[in-house]
Amino acid sequence: MPPHDKLFIPGPVEVSEKTWAAFRRPMIGHRSEAFSALYRSVHPRLQTLFGTKQPVFLSTSSAWGVMEAAIRNVVARRVLNCMCGAFSDKWLDVSRRCGKQAEPLQVDWSKHIDPAALDEKLATGDFDAVTLIHNETSTGVMNPVAEICAVVRRYPGILLIVDTVSSFSAVPIPMDELGIDVLLTGSQKALALPPGFSVFSVSEKAFARAEKQKDRGYYFDFLEFKKNQENDMTPTTPSIAHIHALESKLDDIFTEGLTTRYERHARTNALVHDWVRRAGFDFFAEDGYRSKTLTCVRNTRGIDVPKLARDLREKHRLVIDPGYGKIKGQTFRLSNMGDETEETVSILLASLDSCIQ
Ligand SMILES: Cc1ncc(COP(=O)(O)O)c(C=O)c1O
Repeated sequence: MPPHDKLFIPGPVEVSEKTWAAFRRPMIGHRSEAFSALYRSVHPRLQTLFGTKQPVFLSTSSAWGVMEAAIRNVVARRVLNCMCGAFSDKWLDVSRRCGKQAEPLQVDWSKHIDPAALDEKLATGDFDAVTLIHNETSTGVMNPVAEICAVVRRYPGILLIVDTVSSFSAVPIPMDELGIDVLLTGSQKALALPPGFSVFSVSEKAFARAEKQKDRGYYFDFLEFKKNQENDMTPTTPSIAHIHALESKLDDIFTEGLTTRYERHARTNALVHDWVRRAGFDFFAEDGYRSKTLTCVRNTRGIDVPKLARDLREKHRLVIDPGYGKIKGQTFRLSNMGDETEETVSILLASLDSCIQ
């Protein structure tokens, strides 16, 4: 790799030399047998990662493309958007821009979505879909997805759309077991691929709902994805470079082993947590609901966060995030997603120490 600033922001993250080598493979035609073979090579491993028997789709878009698609394909009557930070809050706006009736279930930034509050909303009978962001990247809150899914399962007419953009492949999220209807993730977070690509899966219930939906459009029509996947194809010309890189990354993931991978993320996350306490900071996210892939540090020491980020980049060529949106400066975010190890995270933490002193 040429010398470069290494990203410890919560996505995009550092992309390995091996992944870039796969990304640069010679091009193939997207209607060729070589492409079908490529799709067939990634598909069963994606199904294992998703914990699903359903087809897994490859979308040449960032996650927002699929997040919008899920609204257009699945919401017939009214959607409840669970909101606890910048990305989940935005989904309400996106739902309305898609012309849907949408209502917030809002909690303060730093808090998690409470399954009991969700239950109360769903009991009104007003909704036929729910959106949830599993790991709210802006605040570092990881929502209790199993408990939330258990609530939604009590309402068979309500479909659940879950964004696992910044948690996918770092913690287990078994789609079929949890009863998730649309599960989606992006490429540039724990998968450590270049940005601009997403993968997602759709339940039978969600396909049935989509069939009755008008105005699904074409590019993001779930039924077009389904029809094409049956022939190991995508509806339109995909970013084949991303799929080559994904194939390489799946080799890495299954060589490491899923449990080992989850444990590595837990260990590197714990290292960052230890540093937060040792350095005299606090956590932004409430106790018990803290992300395993990033840490949103509450700036209780009142340090100059932009200066810290600048010093870290200039002196150590490491990049951290100085806080998102309305909590910029009051917080900063450190990522332990992707290929990071205890060794590389320790280098980040020692570099932070040297810049803060
Ligand atoms: C949880 C979550 N959802 C959605 C997105 C949007 O992803 P993209 O900008 O790649 O479409 C992000 C981006 O950081 C995110 O963290």
